[in-house]
Amino acid sequence: MKTTPYLIDFYNHYDEDNRLAFPHGSVEFLTTMRYIERYLTSGSRVLEIGAGTGRYSHALARQGYLVDAVELVEHNIEVFWENTEPDEQITIVQGNALDLSSFPADTYDITLLLGPLYHLYTPEDKRQALGEAIRITKPGGVIFAAYVISDGCLLDEGFKRGNVNVAEYIKEGLLNAQTFAANSEPKDLFELVRKEDIDALMSVFPVTRLHYVAADGCTLLMREAIDAMDSDIFALYMRYHFATCEREDLLGITSHALDIFRK
Ligand SMILES: C[S@@+](CC[C@H](N)C(=O)[O-])C[C@H]1O[C@@H](n2cnc3c(N)ncnc32)[C@H](O)[C@@H]1O
Repeated sequence: MKTTPYLIDFYNHYDEDNRLAFPHGSVEFLTTMRYIERYLTSGSRVLEIGAGTGRYSHALARQGYLVDAVELVEHNIEVFWENTEPDEQITIVQGNALDLSSFPADTYDITLLLGPLYHLYTPEDKRQALGEAIRITKPGGVIFAAYVISDGCLLDEGFKRGNVNVAEYIKEGLLNAQTFAANSEPKDLFELVRKEDIDALMSVFPVTRLHYVAADGCTLLMREAIDAMDSDIFALYMRYHFATCEREDLLGITSHALDIFRK
């Protein structure tokens, strides 16, 4: 496993709570929860791989579901425990999405892989993590895999905010000069993909896609406008987002995508 010090360092210092304090930070969460809730049934067992500080795990455990979690970074596990409320039926172990051999096959109704694929750089590693998520899921169970999408990030962090120097990235070979496809490395922290990469990855697995969702669409690109909305307008924005986030003509420009499939 190529666990990089960059990854550990990033998550040791990342202020998740601050991001979620703003409305724009909640769109991806609200969207993902909405889809997860569609597939939960009474008594569902959930595994979250790469659970971070437990946003999803705790939300689901508080609804009464049985949640197990796996997380790579010790600091996140400590915060995960601090966030645990007494009534939750929840566990977390330190582990790696690439090797879930301590978890038996065909065990979970819902499996969440919302984060590890952001930090795996080769198709082999990504398929290994996806294969493990599929293995531990019950036949008929549903798997949620999240990705960071290059075009949303390039427009937002690159052209809009200047946090990414697009011309430099092209010079360094991190962006293809013709197609603008990303070519990330571990030191860049996030692996950026497009839908065609996800389709190619998934082509080897005998699963059925249920939804492919632009999880936040243009939200990050227009975060200032969204954070300035009053609650009625924000609710209307969410209605718009839910109504359009699976539209084929709008799928590519998003910062995160959610691939939802049945084993
Ligand atoms: C962007 S965070 C998402 C956390 C959580 N799933 C959520 O959506 O709020 C990604 C998480 O995946 C973890 N992670 C990254 N690579 C991993 C791996 N190979 N195995 C397990 N966890 C991993 C990171 O430490 C981090 O906590």
